[in-house]
Order: sequence, then C-alpha cells, then structure tokens
Amino acid sequence: MEKGERIGSLFRDDQKYLNKEVRVNGWVRTRRDSRAGVSFIELNDGSCLKSLQLVVDFHDPSLQETLTRVTTGCSLSVKGQVVPSPGKGQSIELHAREMTLLGEADPAGYPLQKKRHSFEFLRQIAHLRPRTNTLGAVARVRSRISHAIHQFFQERHFFYIQTPIITASDCEGAGEVFQVTAPGFSGEPAGREEPAGKGEFFGKPAYLTVSGQLQAEIYALALGKVYTFGPTFRAENSNTSRHLAEFWMVEPEMAFCDLAEDLRVAEEFIRHLVEVVLRDCAEDLDFFTRFVESSLPQVLEQVHREPFEVITYTEAVHLLKKSRESFVYPVQWGNDLQAEHERHLTENIFKKPVAVIHFPRSLKPFYMRVNDDGETVAAMDILVPGTGEIIGGSQREERTEVLLEQMQRKLVPRESYEWYVDLRRYGSVPHSGFGLGLERLVQFVTGLPNIREVIPFPRTPGHADF
Ligand code: 4AD
Ligand code: MG
Repeated sequence: MEKGERIGSLFRDDQKYLNKEVRVNGWVRTRRDSRAGVSFIELNDGSCLKSLQLVVDFHDPSLQETLTRVTTGCSLSVKGQVVPSPGKGQSIELHAREMTLLGEADPAGYPLQKKRHSFEFLRQIAHLRPRTNTLGAVARVRSRISHAIHQFFQERHFFYIQTPIITASDCEGAGEVFQVTAPGFSGEPAGREEPAGKGEFFGKPAYLTVSGQLQAEIYALALGKVYTFGPTFRAENSNTSRHLAEFWMVEPEMAFCDLAEDLRVAEEFIRHLVEVVLRDCAEDLDFFTRFVESSLPQVLEQVHREPFEVITYTEAVHLLKKSRESFVYPVQWGNDLQAEHERHLTENIFKKPVAVIHFPRSLKPFYMRVNDDGETVAAMDILVPGTGEIIGGSQREERTEVLLEQMQRKLVPRESYEWYVDLRRYGSVPHSGFGLGLERLVQFVTGLPNIREVIPFPRTPGHADF
C-alpha cells in the first residue's frame, strides 16, 4: 500500500503541506452531501482528535462509483490536494482526486452513529469504542503518560525492572489475589522430590501479582533506584468507579531514602506527568474540558503551580470530625479513610491534592516502617480532587526485629518471606517507595468519572470481554 500521511501531521504542519498532494487513510466519521454535487466527508485516522474534511466532487467520474458506497464507519484511502479551508475550526481540507474504499461498513449494522452514546453502551462494543472522540482521546493521553513515566524515572537514573506477574506472595496482605492454576495439571512438578505441592504447577499456590513492590525492593537494595511498571491484579469484589480487577501500576523503590524524600519524589512525579499532559495533549484536554469536566484546566494548573498539602492521618481525622459533615462511614482514629472522607479533604477542606502520612499501624501492610510512637507507620497516601487516592507508599521497615514482630502481628507466614527478612540481615538500608495507579491518574487528568473508560479493556467482577 502506498504510504500515507497522518492527519495529525497535516494539522500540525499545515503550512508545509499547503497545496501539496498527499495521501491519507482513515475511517469515515460523517458524510454530508451538498445540493451542488459536492460531498463533505470527515475522515479520522486516530492520530489526533480532529477529522480532516475531504471535499469530493460527485461529478468527477473517477470518484463517483466509490462515493456512492461511502458510509459512516467505512475505511478510505484518499489522495488529493491540501488547500486552505473556508470552514470554521479547521485550517485545511483535502480536495480528493483519487479515492479507494478499503472496507465497507454496513450502515444498518454499524453501531457508532453520529449521536452521543452512553459509556455503558460503548463498553459493550469495546472493539469499536476507540473510534469515538472520547476513547480515542483517552488512548492518546494514556500513551503519552506511559511514555512520560519511563522518561521521568530514566532521566533520574532509575532502572526499569520487570517484576513477575506470577508470584507466591500477597504483598499487600489483603487476600485479594487471583490464584494461578493449570487445569488438568495433577502431577509432581518436574524435578521435585518432596511430595509437597502435588497438583500445583509451581509446587505451591501461586497468584497473579497484587504489587511488584517486594521484588522491586530486592533490586533497589542492589541497584539503588529502580521502578516497575506493569499490570497488577486484585480480586476486590467491588463495583466502584475507582476499582479494576486488572490495572497498571508504577512502583519506584529507592534505597537510602526516607518518607520525606519519598513524598518529594511522588509529588514531583505527579506534577511532571500533569505538565506533560498540559503541554502535549492540549487538543484532547480541551475536548475533555468541553464535554466531560469543565473545571479540568483549573484543577490541573493548580497541581502544576501549588505544593500539595501534607497532613498526618491523626490531623485528617481531627479535621474530618470537626467538619460536622454527615458521613456514611464514621470518622474515628483507627478506621480507614473512605472515599467520602478523601473527597471531603481534597475537595472541600484543602481544594487541592493532599498527602496523608503516618497511618495507624493496624491499617497498613506488614512491610511499612513503624514510627517511634509505636502506633503509626511511615505511610503516605496521595489524594487528589475527584479521584481520591492515586498513590500509596511508605518507608519500608529495615530493622529485622521490628519486621519480624510486624509479620507476627499480621500473621504473615515467615517461611514464605525468609528472603525478605534476609534483605534486612545482609546490608539493610533505609528505603522507600510508592505505587501510582495509572488508571487513577488518567481519570484525574481526563475528568472521566468511571475508571472503566480509561483502560482499553476493563476487567471487573462479571466482566472480562474482548
Ligand atoms: O495503595 P496500594 O495498594 O499500594 C501498593 O500496592 C504498594 N505496594 C505500592 C508501593 O508502595 N510500591 O496501591 C497503589 C495504587 C493506589 O494508590 C491506586 O492508585 C492503585 O494503586 N490501585 C488501583 N487502581 C485501580 N483498581 C484497583 N483495584 C486498585 N487498587 C490500587
Ligand atoms: Mg492504598
């Protein structure tokens, strides 16, 4: 096939392309026929939000036959001249000279019509929804953010570590794991003498990872600064707008680093990602501002400008109690902060991102460093307006004795984590890290209310289609 230009490049470099002959390939969004025998076709190729207007003369015999078959959703390859557009909202258009219909789209069956479709409906046609403005914009923003994540850490000399997806540990200790089994596997794992684990492919129960943190710690204690970025799985049976059973998490881990430095990196990281989106995804952001969340520019500009608020968990509880809001879940020292509490802190009290630090020991996993008060751990949750928690992190317990005591309290089976304790026995150092949920961040920067719209193929209880 003859190479074409991306429509995004034409708009970006319109002066360069003006009056040139180019080929473009894409899918028809709409078609409008004028009485004068000219058809206006909106062609979109996904490279940017905007579609390119094709002007097709019905009287041109070489175009006529193809034109009769052009309908919404069909794919076209078109050659023509780039000319200035008299129309509003576009600098250029294309006068078609040659047009090939690559794939038809039966108008009776094509589900994406010109009207606005509900997000619920679009989820049922996840194979076609990236052709809509919203899901196309999400995909572009998500891609840009993913790249910026690598850039951020690479520029700061972190090493990218691929931690395993199959693991025998439940890092967060919340028991929300998917078990990995091989149907029909009933034998001894090859090369094993001991009878334990008969019928288990890996010789013992294995799970899909809920976090790459523990393995990232291994590498941080050898390479200093590392990060993992990959899919994460949690069998949380919750049908909220913020939870997925499969999501992507970025987890940096830093040796020689305490909670204060951890928080500093996390804040710089979020600010950097927001800046990249503001700078490089302006067209898509403008779309989300107009059609999804009108306050988006203010919210993002503020992250860009102002430092986050930092409060302790104890202060947060105090402020929430003082607020006299009627919450569904009672506010009490020792209870976890619920979404409604997080929202109240970020949206009503501080009106900006808030880092809550030093949570009760009882609420957090075994690996977090116990503070001198013996009651709290050096944890941090970063909450943002609209989305709530987007980052969870902590300083890690580096003292062998305290770690063992934590494991005992939390009933963590010692046999499975002897290697984790070893890291404290041999050259232990203060170290810290955090996890950012990619989808939560994409929700934050797009304003989309439901997390299922910011991942190509959402997996939630009852749903694993496509
Ligand atoms: O707070 P979490 O559970 O922290 C950890 O997993 C740590 N091991 C991270 C670390 O210190 N290396 O999860 C981290 C983030 C949350 O703040 C949230 O953004 C996201 O992961 N997250 C989810 N996103 C979508 N669906 C879910 N079910 C999520 N659970 C957590
Ligand atoms: Mg958390």
